[in-house]
Amino acid sequence: MKISVIGVGYVGLTQALGLAEFGFDVVGIDIIKEKVDKLNQGQTPLTEEGLEQLLSKHLNNNLSFTTDYSVIKNSDAIFLCVGTPPRQDGSTNLDFLMSAVNTMKPYLTGNHKLVIVKSTVPVGTTRKVYSMLRDNNVAVFFNPEFLREGLAIHDFFNPSRIVIGFDNNSKQYLNNLFKIYEYFVNKNTPFILTNWETAELIKYASNTFLAMKISFINELARFAEHHNIDIKTLSKGIGADPRIGYSFLNAGLGYGGSCLPKDVKSLIKQFEATGLEPKLISAIDSVNESQVKWFFNKIKQEYPSLEGKTFAIFGLAFKPKTDDLRESRGIAMIDLLLSQGSKIKAYDFVPNARANLLQKYINDHNIEILDDPYECVVNADGVIITTDDAKFTDLDWSKISELISNKIVFDGRNILDEPKLRALGFKYLGVGK
Ligand code: UGA
Repeated sequence: MKISVIGVGYVGLTQALGLAEFGFDVVGIDIIKEKVDKLNQGQTPLTEEGLEQLLSKHLNNNLSFTTDYSVIKNSDAIFLCVGTPPRQDGSTNLDFLMSAVNTMKPYLTGNHKLVIVKSTVPVGTTRKVYSMLRDNNVAVFFNPEFLREGLAIHDFFNPSRIVIGFDNNSKQYLNNLFKIYEYFVNKNTPFILTNWETAELIKYASNTFLAMKISFINELARFAEHHNIDIKTLSKGIGADPRIGYSFLNAGLGYGGSCLPKDVKSLIKQFEATGLEPKLISAIDSVNESQVKWFFNKIKQEYPSLEGKTFAIFGLAFKPKTDDLRESRGIAMIDLLLSQGSKIKAYDFVPNARANLLQKYINDHNIEILDDPYECVVNADGVIITTDDAKFTDLDWSKISELISNKIVFDGRNILDEPKLRALGFKYLGVGK
């Protein structure tokens, strides 16, 4: 079977590599020529564990990349994985998706090619795609992804479920899609088969639920620090109930990344467009929007003025093991500090995250991005942790205590060993502590 994947960002590239590993002939299509050229030379455009190995295994065997949509003529199935970024008002920008559908349309020749929308799209979009392709005699599906950045390859091969949305026109071609996903059928992965709209909402509702857990614990953290409450024990105590579960109850600076913030905002807009008021979902967003500011105010209270103070920022990408800076809480913190005249020395364990940050602040003399975490703390007036990278816990804090000017640490993810730091003479402030 020949498969095309349109859009080779982290979703599309993971999908293309996974399908190549299953043995299909895969072509990845993207409009960005530099990205395509790089991939054809075996270079990955993003940092993801396992991605490089799969690329070098399949490139020039059963995997290639192109900007030429005409390859779709020979494809049996086409996965649409283009970005659906947020507009300024939080609604979803479908321009890339619509443009991809229009560009591929002339090549959808022959009968019953499978067109599988994988991009996260507002409820009703797959129906729109179908109406655009109605004359092409294709079978249209919606099949959301549940890949975590940094663990995308792992998640591709170990999904918690496969959701497939179809309608009366595509129902009879479901078996062709099962053939593509035979590996998961054999693995007894749960398949959830439903209509397009339900499948579309499953994606938004899943991310919004995760965001809700985070905003819930973050709001409780604000209460916790006014009382003698240990927020980590609180999370454990709540999460021990299997109906609630431990995950996504770790207090921090709020959720970032390219998915949770945009999907929550998009769902709010979808409610509003339906004439409904999303009270709970709006609250999830507003707690998240204010979380970094809340922690920043806590930092502010420790100094007569932040002007001229130097801070070591540990954690630049939106989470560990990725170079993705989108909606990074670390950057939000950096911007708040810079606005007060502070100086920044920044570090992330992922080299490309440091390189990307350098691009962003290329003309700002108040920020240095360093390749050594210990250099960041030299003469610093405080350390701020912004991601839950366990490697920050493993740093030599005794060495840091000797290099730093002012022994104070703001643990924005509650990951450090608080008693150990206190024993080293640090003042320790966390989220909810
Ligand atoms: C998220 C979902 O977890 C995936 O299932 C989904 O497929 C993906 O979005 C997507 O829609 O493509 P991702 O954006 O990679 O994945 O990030 P998460 O691991 O969900 O983390 C999101 C943010 O929440 C991060 O900033 C993280 O640090 C923060 N977080 C997470 C917390 O603050 N506390 C927690 O307890 C957990």
